[in-house]
Amino acid sequence: MGWWCLATRLVLVVLLAPRVWLQFIPTTGQVKVDCLGSLARLKLNSGYFQHKYISLAAIDKFGRAWPLDAVLATKCGYTISQNVWGNVELRASLIGCYAQIVDDRSSTLNIQIKTGRDPELRDAAVLDVPIRCSYGPWQPREIVCEANYMEVSVRRNVPPIPDGFIQDQPEDWLPQDQPEDWESAFPEVQAGAPSIWQIVFHMDRGKKAMLVEEAHAVGYGVNTTDTRIVLRASYNASEAQKLEVSGVPFSSVRSSTYYKQRWMLLMVDTAVACPIDGVTYTEETIIWTVPKGITPLLAGGGTVKELQVEMGINLTKLPVQERERRGYTLASDKDSIVVKIPIGAPDGSYKSDVVDGNLMTTYQIKPFIMHLWEDDKRGITKHTILKDINTPLQLVPVTITDHTNVSLQLFNATVGSFLPDVELVSVTVDDSGPLTLPEADKKGYKVYETKHPNGSRDCILQVPFVAPGVVKEYVPDNMRNYTITPILGFIVVPQRKPFNVPVPLAALVRDAVLPKAQGFCDDQALYLVVKRGNVDQDWLPFVGDTLLSQEAAQSFGYTLQDNGTHLALRVPRYAAHVLYEEISSLGVVATFQLQLKDRLGQTKMIYFAVACNFSPKDLIDCQPNGTMMISALKLLGIPDMETSGLVLKDRRCRPASVTEGGATFIFTVSSCGTTRKFENDTMIYENEVLYFLPGQTAPVYQLKCACRYFIGDALLVQYTPTEVPSPSILPGVGVLALALKLARDQSYRDFYQDAEYPVTRYLREPLYFQVELLHSQDPQLELFLEDCWATASSDRNSSPQWNIVVDSCENMEDSHQTTFHQVPRGSDPFPMHLKRFEVKMFTFILNGQALQGQIYFHCSAVICDSSYPSSDDLCARRCIPRRQRVGRSIDSNRDLQGYVSSGAIVLGSKNHT
Ligand SMILES: *[C@@H]1O[C@H](CO)[C@@H](O)[C@H](O)[C@H]1NC(C)=O
Ligand SMILES: *[C@@H]1O[C@H](CO)[C@@H](O)[C@H](O)[C@H]1NC(C)=O
Ligand SMILES: *[C@@H]1O[C@H](CO)[C@@H](O)[C@H](O)[C@H]1NC(C)=O
Ligand SMILES: *[C@@H]1O[C@H](CO)[C@@H](O)[C@H](O)[C@H]1NC(C)=O
Ligand SMILES: *[C@@H]1O[C@H](CO)[C@@H](O)[C@H](O)[C@H]1NC(C)=O
Ligand SMILES: *[C@@H]1O[C@H](CO)[C@@H](O)[C@H](O)[C@H]1NC(C)=O
Ligand SMILES: *[C@@H]1O[C@H](CO)[C@@H](O)[C@H](O)[C@H]1NC(C)=O
Repeated sequence: MGWWCLATRLVLVVLLAPRVWLQFIPTTGQVKVDCLGSLARLKLNSGYFQHKYISLAAIDKFGRAWPLDAVLATKCGYTISQNVWGNVELRASLIGCYAQIVDDRSSTLNIQIKTGRDPELRDAAVLDVPIRCSYGPWQPREIVCEANYMEVSVRRNVPPIPDGFIQDQPEDWLPQDQPEDWESAFPEVQAGAPSIWQIVFHMDRGKKAMLVEEAHAVGYGVNTTDTRIVLRASYNASEAQKLEVSGVPFSSVRSSTYYKQRWMLLMVDTAVACPIDGVTYTEETIIWTVPKGITPLLAGGGTVKELQVEMGINLTKLPVQERERRGYTLASDKDSIVVKIPIGAPDGSYKSDVVDGNLMTTYQIKPFIMHLWEDDKRGITKHTILKDINTPLQLVPVTITDHTNVSLQLFNATVGSFLPDVELVSVTVDDSGPLTLPEADKKGYKVYETKHPNGSRDCILQVPFVAPGVVKEYVPDNMRNYTITPILGFIVVPQRKPFNVPVPLAALVRDAVLPKAQGFCDDQALYLVVKRGNVDQDWLPFVGDTLLSQEAAQSFGYTLQDNGTHLALRVPRYAAHVLYEEISSLGVVATFQLQLKDRLGQTKMIYFAVACNFSPKDLIDCQPNGTMMISALKLLGIPDMETSGLVLKDRRCRPASVTEGGATFIFTVSSCGTTRKFENDTMIYENEVLYFLPGQTAPVYQLKCACRYFIGDALLVQYTPTEVPSPSILPGVGVLALALKLARDQSYRDFYQDAEYPVTRYLREPLYFQVELLHSQDPQLELFLEDCWATASSDRNSSPQWNIVVDSCENMEDSHQTTFHQVPRGSDPFPMHLKRFEVKMFTFILNGQALQGQIYFHCSAVICDSSYPSSDDLCARRCIPRRQRVGRSIDSNRDLQGYVSSGAIVLGSKNHT
């Protein structure tokens, strides 16, 4: 029971001493005694009894030991305390029980210390410590307010009878206006038994008389010395009363102690009062207020004269200079004494604690106040108040300073600071739980302490970047964030209360190697090979919102291979997620995008796109008879596009077939809103594939497609796409075929076939030529002849040349040679696609000699848009002068020019050469 049996840690030390010994052992260092005023003090270092049980007892003059339990200590004037370090302090009143007092001047106390490993202390080691102290002279009344008791001792020697004054009625020497407690005790005193010490307690609810034995039995200490009466009471004795003096709570026991003999009555006022509190705190200061005018101590007194106020620490008085040097203040006015002590002053000490896992501290200091006053009746009172102050617990901010050195590849942090009662015991680096310091050290986590001159300490934590547990995370651009949050586990000793300090450390290192990708294409597929870097080990491949697992890849028709260092993907051209982003004259750009996302699949870390041009040939087919076939593909950026909803300019024209990825249209150039235009040497049919969202009139998708036809070897002009909204043009290329045919006769029903050339004709025999636009089904096209001429070789640019048609007119210089023939309606489905002329066979004369051999005929032809006749003079079917033609060519581009040549025609030699 009780606090005197101080159980400490587990027994770790083998006791080598004999089983029992009763002897005086040197106490150097372990036991220290001193005398401090009316108190004696014994300090016992915890080293003396470490890992053992201990008990303290007082030895009386007969050598009997009285174990000092809480009740006995309070009654007998002993105070025992143990601080968190286990050190024991015992204070004893010099007039306490078992003290051997000589002349009220010197006092001897014998304290017995028993230590042993058995809680019952059966085989304990015993140490007797005698303490001899002198004190005096005692003041008429001395009051000590100890931690566990209040003690008053009052002088009891009978005063000498003053001259000329005889008094046997106590009332007469009492002031009438302020009756004293002991005055009112007279009825009890008169009724009490003689020859015996008795006490009368005064309480608000009435008086209570007790024999000394009875008072002892309820916990009071009552005794006499040679000259004094002593009363000791606990703060919460049943006759104690709580009161407030100037706002400070007090406990007080008002009592009169008396001794009656037949002929004599000795009665003493043994009132005692002690403050219970009176300490307040500011951020930096402890303020201890002890009021004066403590009524129970002044009752019946007269004028009070202030004599002395002093303060000290640990029962040692501090002279004024010392107080000032330490920053303490002691102020005393008529109402109170106020002591101010800065928190952290060197006479006190800090102690760590842990509350709810947080490190806290408290500051402890033990000041006392001694107040001396004198009043008319009692003489001098010495009031000594001891106080054990612990400031309220305050949260200690733990500071983490990161000195991490990237060039050394080392995390380096200082964590602190901690009081000496904080011990580092573990380091947690991952989920596997706390490691002891040597275990952590093996993993590369080094922790050591540095001490500061003021005793506080810091922990230094060093972890190489390569240590296990270091997480490396990619940070744009090209950096990696190295992070760890080791948790340092501490305990506060000696209570071993644990707390943790997580130490988040981060370092940015420019060492990221991003994954790289190579992409390429062939006719069938797009390919992507991603080479892993050092940041993407946890990144996952995604296509759109789909994690690209093997199964997903298979379902999309992809081929996915991942050998750890490389990820290779083959995506067929028309597979899902291949998007046709841009269609230009160079082709259709098909794009495939592979994204690498973080572990959670939420943040896109990097993406790779492979984009390939596929020739649009198979997306658009421009047939000579004017049939267009267009494959429109889904474009990037229109989610939920329904390919069956695609239409042409004429919205009634719907796809001939649809697939998931696109739609195919087949239509002739004279339908579906197709427009026609001429551009330099090309004729262009244009339409567009459109997609409308429900309820909207503006298309969200507009794929322009054009079939450009050129004649023979005319150049294909590059096409620049127009803009809004979706700047895509799907150009196709077709050939408008022209032919220059030779008819067998004027009926133009039968023509020479290719195999029949060279055809022989005699001089002046008529040749019936027809120039034809082959295949075209476009009724709005009209063919015109611009120039026709003959050469002696197949090269149409060779010399000499003989003009037949000049600027769309018969050769005027030789008009009888060339004749145009109308093409009768009904002779051909498209008569305007034909032109006919007749010319007489001739020969070239060079240097007066007729050239023998073959003649070739050539024409340059123009194809006009007959829907724009007014803007096109040539197409107005009139013979026009050259100058006009030139002007027309400049302001209109609506025609399409081509050349056509005949096979060889040989001059027959039937007549003469
Ligand atoms: C009273 O004091 C005397 C002398 O010191 C002592 O012998 C005696 O034991 C004490 N009585 C009590 C009850 O403490
Ligand atoms: C008072 O005691 C404490 C704790 O034992 C000690 O640290 C301090 O120095 C002492 N002060 C004085 C003035 O004795
Ligand atoms: C770690 O930091 C401490 C405090 O700044 C410094 O004294 C020490 O030299 C550093 N150690 C290394 C290895 O950088
Ligand atoms: C590095 O990681 C730490 C811990 O997650 C974080 O607090 C810090 O902001 C990161 N640094 C950068 C630059 O992203
Ligand atoms: C993984 O595949 C890539 C190409 O796909 C190749 O270059 C590399 O050598 C392969 N690595 C291993 C470890 O097989
Ligand atoms: C045009 O030619 C294609 C193939 O040569 C043929 O399938 C189509 O029916 C023709 N269109 C017309 C209107 O003759
Ligand atoms: C037509 O030809 C002229 C001259 O060669 C050129 O400047 C112009 O850009 C061409 N027009 C188109 C639409 O290609």
